[in-house]
Amino acid sequence: MSIQKILLEFEPKLENLLRVLKEINKQEKYISESDCLKVAGYFSLPLARVFSLASFFDLMNTRPVKKKIIRVCSGGPCTMKRSFEIIRQIEMLLKIEMGNDSHPKVKLETMSCLGLCDQGPVMMIDEQVFEKVRPETVDDIILDYL
Ligand code: FES
Repeated sequence: MSIQKILLEFEPKLENLLRVLKEINKQEKYISESDCLKVAGYFSLPLARVFSLASFFDLMNTRPVKKKIIRVCSGGPCTMKRSFEIIRQIEMLLKIEMGNDSHPKVKLETMSCLGLCDQGPVMMIDEQVFEKVRPETVDDIILDYL
């Protein structure tokens, strides 16, 4: 779906700005500067305001994403449920380090709370959400998905 079609699905009201950016990120896998420019024009907002919102959230990208991104929640409730053990397990399995961008196919990041705390620990691989992940089962999830 083109950016223009996405924009036409929403009225140019401020409360729709984040929805539009999320939809562009979902469709295009990232929000380019030219997308931000179109959105800014549609909402009659400065480009800097649109770009700062697009770049603020962990789950939106303002650069092309060529790798699978594995995100593990680092919110308090997920941390209490061993999310950092899950991170360590992923690091050992894939021989990568959190935040290190040197792996050719995968990047591992933490993310903020997704609001699924009762289903934690929560992990995402690209757009796919995995709930109640355990250090003992995370290898199978990752190897199935990658
Ligand atoms: S703390 Fe992980 S989903 Fe809320």
